[in-house]
Amino acid sequence: MMDKNLWYKNAVFYEISVRSFKDSNGDGRGDLHGLAEKLDYLQTLGIDCIWLMPIYPSPLNDDGYDIADYYNVDKSYGTLDDLKELIAKAHRRNVRIIMDLVLNHTSDQHPWFQASRSDPNSPHRDYYVWSDTDQKYKDARIIFLDTETSNWTWDEKAGKYYWHRFYSSQPDLNFDNPKVQEEMINVARFWLNLGIDGFRADAVPYLFEREDTHCENLPETHAYLKKLRAFMDEHYPDRILLCEANQGPEDVRPYFGDGDEFHMGFHFPIMPRIYMALKKERYEDMARIMQRTPPIPENCQWCTFLRNHDELTLEMVTPEERQWMWEQYAPEPRMKINLGIRRRLAPLLDNDRRKIELANSLLFTLPGSPIIYYGDEIGMGDNLDLPDRNGVRTPMQWDDSPNAGFTSGKPYSEFVKGRLGYRNVNVARQMNDPDSLFNSIKRMIAVRKKHEAFGSSGMEWVESGNPHVAAYIRRHGDDTMLILNNLSASAQTVKLPPQYQKKYLDLFAGNEHVIADVLALDPHSYHWLQMQK
Ligand code: GLC
Repeated sequence: MMDKNLWYKNAVFYEISVRSFKDSNGDGRGDLHGLAEKLDYLQTLGIDCIWLMPIYPSPLNDDGYDIADYYNVDKSYGTLDDLKELIAKAHRRNVRIIMDLVLNHTSDQHPWFQASRSDPNSPHRDYYVWSDTDQKYKDARIIFLDTETSNWTWDEKAGKYYWHRFYSSQPDLNFDNPKVQEEMINVARFWLNLGIDGFRADAVPYLFEREDTHCENLPETHAYLKKLRAFMDEHYPDRILLCEANQGPEDVRPYFGDGDEFHMGFHFPIMPRIYMALKKERYEDMARIMQRTPPIPENCQWCTFLRNHDELTLEMVTPEERQWMWEQYAPEPRMKINLGIRRRLAPLLDNDRRKIELANSLLFTLPGSPIIYYGDEIGMGDNLDLPDRNGVRTPMQWDDSPNAGFTSGKPYSEFVKGRLGYRNVNVARQMNDPDSLFNSIKRMIAVRKKHEAFGSSGMEWVESGNPHVAAYIRRHGDDTMLILNNLSASAQTVKLPPQYQKKYLDLFAGNEHVIADVLALDPHSYHWLQMQK
């Protein structure tokens, strides 16, 4: 049996924008009560842990990633008591809840920043990074390229520039100030005491700034994150920290430390390569990045994803690959944003059921614990008329009644239009249809959860003799899985090396068959096979 504190190593995660999920009081915005009503649904799907996007009070210039108060829940979502109740209800079902912890920056509306900018003698002056010139830290890149021209913004009140890695309305906290370091540990303690199961730590590479560096992944940053982890280990050993560091595998690796920094980290580089593989119908880019991925400590785990609330980021591919990805997946200019693509999974994959399932087969069988972005389990569409990343944050499509069963009031946002809108694509219809995408994903989750091999570390690529077929082994003890994914739109054959020519149990079909010599695979088919003795 696995140590129960390592629950995250074989868990299925689900990301939710609370505003978008379910409205319980008719104000047109999703809330915590609404989410609680839908725990049955998430349990049916087979989810182990929910990640809540920020629910803190916020002016919403960055959809809540601009926090104005770290110690409360925004009124529109409910109260702290509502959150406690939600956590209790989820725990009764064995479902955990983690939330965003935004360490790097606050909203410019936060009282700390208001005090900091207004009064040079304020104890909060030094909570932010002020400068008389905008010429410092020149080597730091700009992340929100479409909207920002500098990481410095002039503040009239302070008569100085302040530093920000994201929107100018999100001033960076000054982590060189021990007070700031302490504040953020207090914030973590507050939510952990309330019962939250951990944090998705937002934008962690950027906590510190140092001249003549690109101000990412600095040793000081790792040192602070280790302090945060030590604090959690001491008082809350079963809670987790999930790292958002959009970096190459070599640079993400240090965020696991010696098993004493993050429990989990998103695997950003594999994500675009799954889309590359589906389009090129070849697995080599995926294999190369996985081979480039260093092993991680035994108590750590990757988190794999196909989509999330942001753009499909192309920061972790070469400029040529990025250009190619834009050509393939963002044919209309408005589909692009910053260095990425602001579309959802189903439309990206032409709403092709086989490709969507295949992508999920990869998600659920590559090393790491998978996370599903709300709505992708039913193949929801996006709405490109909405600005920024809002087109992939539209209301959840529950049924085909007016307003999708999301609200009885006036919805905060437009819905998805057209064939991927709620009249065609909704939960109610798919739950009733044994052949729906929802039910396929539910089956994949159920099968995955029966086998610790999927949560184990490491994988072995199997030479299939066919560049169109991604074949690999996942193993736990003597439980060995052979996974075959035919990336091609045409039927393919593979000839496995002799050591894999064995008897297997097909984990979906439930029948046994012997692989000997040449094996034929249907277009875009996937097979999860358990080796038999
Ligand atoms: C993270 C979030 C993104 C947000 C940014 C700034 O990258 O995923 O949504 O805009 O941090 O907080």
